[in-house]
Amino acid sequence: MSHDELQRQSLEAALGDLALARAEFDDVAGWLAAAGASPVDPLAAEAWVFDPDLTQVLLVLHPWRGWVPPGGKVEFGETPREAARRELFEETGLEAELLARPAAASVRSYHPDHAATLGLSYAAIVDPAAPLVAEPGQPVAWMNLDHQWESCFSDDPSRIRQHAQWLRETAMFCAVAAADDSQQATSSQLNSPGDPSQAWPDLAPDYERARSREDSLDRLVEWPAQRHLLGDVTGRSVLDVGCGNGGKLAELVGDGATAAVGVDVSGNFLSAPPAGLELIQGDLNRLHSIPELAGRTFDRILFLQSFGYAKDPVRTLQAARAMLADDGFIVLTRTQPIRYAVERAEQNGTSLGEEYFAQTSYTYRTGWNEQIALTKRTYTISDLINAFSAAGLWIETAIEPQLSEDARRRYPHKQEWMNKYLGILIFKLRPHPGRQPHL
Ligand SMILES: C[S@@+](CC[C@H](N)C(=O)[O-])C[C@H]1O[C@@H](n2cnc3c(N)ncnc32)[C@H](O)[C@@H]1O
Repeated sequence: MSHDELQRQSLEAALGDLALARAEFDDVAGWLAAAGASPVDPLAAEAWVFDPDLTQVLLVLHPWRGWVPPGGKVEFGETPREAARRELFEETGLEAELLARPAAASVRSYHPDHAATLGLSYAAIVDPAAPLVAEPGQPVAWMNLDHQWESCFSDDPSRIRQHAQWLRETAMFCAVAAADDSQQATSSQLNSPGDPSQAWPDLAPDYERARSREDSLDRLVEWPAQRHLLGDVTGRSVLDVGCGNGGKLAELVGDGATAAVGVDVSGNFLSAPPAGLELIQGDLNRLHSIPELAGRTFDRILFLQSFGYAKDPVRTLQAARAMLADDGFIVLTRTQPIRYAVERAEQNGTSLGEEYFAQTSYTYRTGWNEQIALTKRTYTISDLINAFSAAGLWIETAIEPQLSEDARRRYPHKQEWMNKYLGILIFKLRPHPGRQPHL
């Protein structure tokens, strides 16, 4: 791969993380405008490592910059996130998982002879008891966030403290409150606390990592069943609502689908989608007002494990129904509600029926990122069926996919999980000819 190509890859990854960063400092817009016109200087990346109480940050004493977070230059072909992890390891001996949401983007000069460049900062949480191995001549130490420290970057202490404060206050370490089925979404609601969609910019990379494991239930059970239900997609247009990184759509394009469009709130998309695949950062609660979808119709519309984020499920389905081409259908999957009822009954010492029919919210850890919990409203199978009916859709097929014989043998722990929690429900939905959608 050429030097330019490697540089372009690093820059693309940096721009993706820039869009997700919690804070932007200095003249990032000005740097971006200038970077468009001339070759880019090496990018910078660093790690803001906090203790679990968020009262300390890990710093290294650089020969001329003073106390700074571990970090350095992004090497060719490396993403800024990879560079931050590598630098952290090289300078402190720590191998830490960086939190999914980039902490900050800034534009600084790291040497008197060098121009200012874009730098990305990533946060991590590490036990201060973990052994540290400093680089020769560059001590490493935990600094109390209340103390001032000497640094050539005088803004660092306040920027880093702000981020610790944000971590304390936000959903990173606590539940994201419930979606409200009774309300119609507005974009400000999407950003307000209390919306489980809000967790996704942080959760998305962990979800994709978990999904790509060879023993993930998505790989073993869900996607094969979803794919089967979609049938031959040659020449078909497909809209995937809550598409994740767009990987499933990319496969459908490989299988001949045309005009494939994915919408997801996280914006954590494939860096190089195939031709014919368009990925849009957007809210499924506002499908009818996404400009790129205006006036378009699709042969297949997918809600694969994303329907639970619809604040008004009927309205969301009506909007999707209005976008179906003649003879088009919707494939919608949702976790078996019994799964959550079993879990809560165990936790609360109650019965399955009490939990299944309880009209409350529940908080659960997804297993993709232990620091993020989602809170959702309970639902029953009849709630789902009634939502389909109210949206003018009929169920052509319903499936409860299970592991193949071979997968059972290879992954007995997954079979154990399925025996307890049952898995997911998949529905193929078609518009009821007699009913028109009301939007
Ligand atoms: C469990 S993942 C499923 C992803 C993908 N459909 C799959 O099957 O692998 C749920 C997806 O819903 C997306 N999502 C959550 N709230 C959303 C919203 N309000 N609008 C659009 N997408 C949303 C998340 O970002 C995430 O990608």
